[in-house]
This record gives sequence, C-alpha cells and structure tokens, in this order.
Amino acid sequence: MRAVLQAISEELARLKAEGEQVVPVSEEALAGLRALVKARTPSAPERVPERTPAPAPASRGEPARAAAAAFAEPVAPTIKLAPAAPAKALPPPPVVTLPEGDKAARWAALKELATQHPVCLEHVRPGKKAVLGVGSLDAKIFFVGEAPGAEEEVQGEPFVGPAGQLLTKMIGAMGLKREQVYIGNIMCWRPQMPTPPGAEQVGNRPPTVEEMAFCLPFLRASIEIVQPEILVALGGTAAQGLLGAQFTTLGAVRGKWHDFAGKPLMVTYHPSYLLRNASNKSKRAVWEDLLQVMERAGLPISDKQRGYFK
Ligand code: URA
Repeated sequence: MRAVLQAISEELARLKAEGEQVVPVSEEALAGLRALVKARTPSAPERVPERTPAPAPASRGEPARAAAAAFAEPVAPTIKLAPAAPAKALPPPPVVTLPEGDKAARWAALKELATQHPVCLEHVRPGKKAVLGVGSLDAKIFFVGEAPGAEEEVQGEPFVGPAGQLLTKMIGAMGLKREQVYIGNIMCWRPQMPTPPGAEQVGNRPPTVEEMAFCLPFLRASIEIVQPEILVALGGTAAQGLLGAQFTTLGAVRGKWHDFAGKPLMVTYHPSYLLRNASNKSKRAVWEDLLQVMERAGLPISDKQRGYFK
C-alpha cells in the first residue's frame, strides 16, 4: 500500500514538474485512493479533492486534462497541484522590423534578432540556446508548437526531441518531408523551472500569457517571411497563443479552421499528447485534422492515407 501511495505521489510530483496544475481523477480511482488512505491512517478525516468545473487550457505534454476537454466527457474530480514558479516580469513585446531583402536574408536577420535578443538570452540558462524555427521558407504548411524543450534548447532547433520525432513521422504520413514544411514555436525559450545553479532543468512548464505575448512578434515575423498557405497549431498552448481571447478549450477549437494573421489555422493535438495517449481514437483525431490540412493545401491523398487509423 505504501508503495502505491509513493508511486502516486511521485507521478503527481512529475506532472507538477512538467507544469501540470490540474489532474483529472476518475470516481473509481478516487474511491480507491480514499480506501488506501483510510486504511493507512484510520483516524485521519476523509479529504475530498477539489472539483474544477472547466479544465484550464492544455499544456505541452497535455495529458488527461486535455483529453477530458477534447472528448467532452463528464468533468472528472481533480487534484490541484501547486503552481510552478512565477515567471520574471517582462518588458513590452519587441517591435520586429524586418530588413529589405530576399526570404533567406530576412529570415537570417530575424533569427539573429530573436535568438540574440537580450530578453530571450536572459531566459536561457548558461550553455543553452534560444530557438526560432526551422524548415522551408517556401513551405505551404507552417506548424506552430509551444516552446523548446530540453533537447531543443541544446540544439537550437524546434522539435528535435521525442515529440519532434513523432511530428516528423506525422509530416511523413502526409507525404511530405520535414524539410518541406516550416516548424516554429510560440516561445523562443524554454520556460524555466526552479533549478539549482549548475543543475539541468527537470521537466517543462507551460509559458505564461506574458511570455507568449513577448515572443509572438518573432513568430508573426516568421509567418510574414514564409507566407505559408496554412498554419497548424500543435496543442492547447499554441492554440491559445495564436487565438488569444478566442481560445476557449482545446476540445472546442480542435479540428476546426480559425484565422491567424490572415491565414487559415487548424488546431490539433500536440505530438506529446499522442506520446502519452497513443490510443487509436487520439491518433485518428489528429489524422483527421491533418487530412483537412492536406485537402486545403491541395496535397494528394491516397485511399490508404484516408484509411489510416480507421
Ligand atoms: N514541443 C514544442 O512545442 N516545441 C518544441 O520545439 C519541442 C517540443
């Protein structure tokens, strides 16, 4: 019993370190937990975890919280985790003015501006990099993720870790190569977690609204340079960053067309979500969103592709 409680406590600590603040719990699991705690400390009063009526927008790695919102299942009771460390106050978002020149020259200037911006550098730990984007400057499709993670801030390239490998496979399933699309993030830096000096950051947290607002001009400028036909927001945080006040829940905006900077925007789940919830239902949902993107981009779609995950 002690081992079970220990495992649960470790998992909650891990989720908290990743930035999760709310974890849905089924009635059945709650009953089991109550029984365990009661048996362990018979005199302890029973504690009922708080209920959260509307789950907050999903974050990178968005696990059960996002699924609850997306599949509109009855709202589960939740255990609230303490919030992650507050972010530093930020100056107003930068005004990005792109130089004259061809796409490559303008992008190189933007990359220098974003990755060497003093505020971005201030938020990057020693030895790590700020990250702009990667891919074809003539891409029809522009994917937008949340923020660099551990591997991305080392390499200075978005989506090179496990989620990135899955994204590359998803792009492949669309009949494209990673080099044919453009991949960017809402954030240029990895949102920091409290980490002792000299230690490696463990886990990720979602960016704050202020952090997203600060970095957004760099993403807007990237879109202005690439001029893609279609934007694809990966996950709730990217969707929230792009849709602003129009964002409600991931479940409400996913699989539908929106608009950002005059471009059609499709919202789908983040690949990290699929890594944690590799059910056919989740994969199918993402694939249906990507089929819509392919159709709108005029990409050929074979019967085999239409049948994936059916
Ligand atoms: N997740 C993101 O949203 N972006 C990355 O670059 C990597 C993981």
